Amino acid sequence: MSAIGIHDLAVATGHHVLELDDLAERLGVDPAKYHVGIGQDAFSVPAPDEDIVTMGAAAAKQVIDRHGSDGIRTVLFATESGIDQSKAAGVFVHGLLGLPQAVRVVELKQACYGGAAALQLALGIVARNPDERVLVIAADVARYDVDTAAEPTQGAGAVAVLVSADPDLIEIEPLSGLFTADVDDFWRPNDRSTALVDGRLSVSAYVDAFIGAWDDLASRGGPAYDTIDRFVHHQPFTKMALKAHRKLTQHVGVPFDETELQTGFTYNRQVGNTYTASLWIALAAVLDLDDDLDGTRVGMFSYGSGSVGELITGIVRPGYREYRRQGAVRADLEARVPLTVDAYRALHADGAATSQDVDRPRVTAAPFRFAGVLGGARHYEATTPAA
Ligand code: HMG
Repeated sequence: MSAIGIHDLAVATGHHVLELDDLAERLGVDPAKYHVGIGQDAFSVPAPDEDIVTMGAAAAKQVIDRHGSDGIRTVLFATESGIDQSKAAGVFVHGLLGLPQAVRVVELKQACYGGAAALQLALGIVARNPDERVLVIAADVARYDVDTAAEPTQGAGAVAVLVSADPDLIEIEPLSGLFTADVDDFWRPNDRSTALVDGRLSVSAYVDAFIGAWDDLASRGGPAYDTIDRFVHHQPFTKMALKAHRKLTQHVGVPFDETELQTGFTYNRQVGNTYTASLWIALAAVLDLDDDLDGTRVGMFSYGSGSVGELITGIVRPGYREYRRQGAVRADLEARVPLTVDAYRALHADGAATSQDVDRPRVTAAPFRFAGVLGGARHYEATTPAA
């Protein structure tokens, strides 16, 4: 069978940014606790006319603009901040992008793990039908209550991944390591728009899942540690990846060099936690910023609270440099409009999904916007008229 994997990867984020220095000042916290203690500098905040659909569509548009929609018969939308209990967010994206009607669209949920689950389903579909391509979208807005320890670990962002045979970027290897344990580390009941979390338990549950997934991969004949050239992780905050990776190296009995992980932290330090998109934004950073990946093996660890973990490996395709989207994420990050803490908190208070009719102000500069709710239904539109 020919190689199957990631053919394209595009990222989108929110219109606004909150610098953690400003939050630290407001809360009377030493800023070093954020920059060093949790390894975060800022987080993206959606404009009032942005949500998972607009960010997901903005990421997916980049992929469709480059590759067209031929062969796409499946759109998988992973999220844990869904905007409807019934309709898949991907159906809105399908409409905004004008995708063909002969397409199946579905939404997947298991906390931050949903994006990796979608990737695995996509690989299976392409394995059965190598002429098909699958559009995977992972988008989330990470929201915790204000004035909690979790507040600095919020964020917003999306990725779109095109899965195909003979991929331009990464061939995904068939073996992966799996781990599931029923644990109450983080969850969001149906009547809440903010997550509940047991912070300390969540950190140890993440580590348990990483070690467990590693052991499963090893027991199935997976690659030896020293044949994995780069690692990227789900990053609720970048220090989490460091903590977990240090434990893995102790478990395996190899030296720990934290400098090896820093490239994968570059974007996540700025966007914050993007739940299902987080791991893939880390992967985008490594592809964009590391010029020496031809033929190297990358380990990708996905963790979703509750909890499910999976360790996936892939081989970077020679020539990937020609197809990566170098500079695009950096430009998006720099274009974000800074918020004061008061302005961010006002947006946060207004951020819960509602079925009340409402018009949203025009703020976003992204290609699509959330226009508001009419008759209980959400409405989206392009921000620029079609040419
Ligand atoms: P906290 O109460 O701020 O923790 O909560 P802390 O007081 O232990 O401080 C954090 C670190 O800062 C510590 O370092 C301190 O020493 C250090 P550590 O001991 O851990 O290495 N520190 C300083 N460093 C330098 N200068 C200073 C200073 N002061 C303190 N002056 C916590 C932190 C992450 C728990 C909180 O933010 C939280 O609850 N966040 C949300 C939960 C979370 O992100 N969990 C991660 C694992 S679960 C996961 O990844 C899944 C998730 O993405 C959801 C999903 O799957 O859907 C969350």
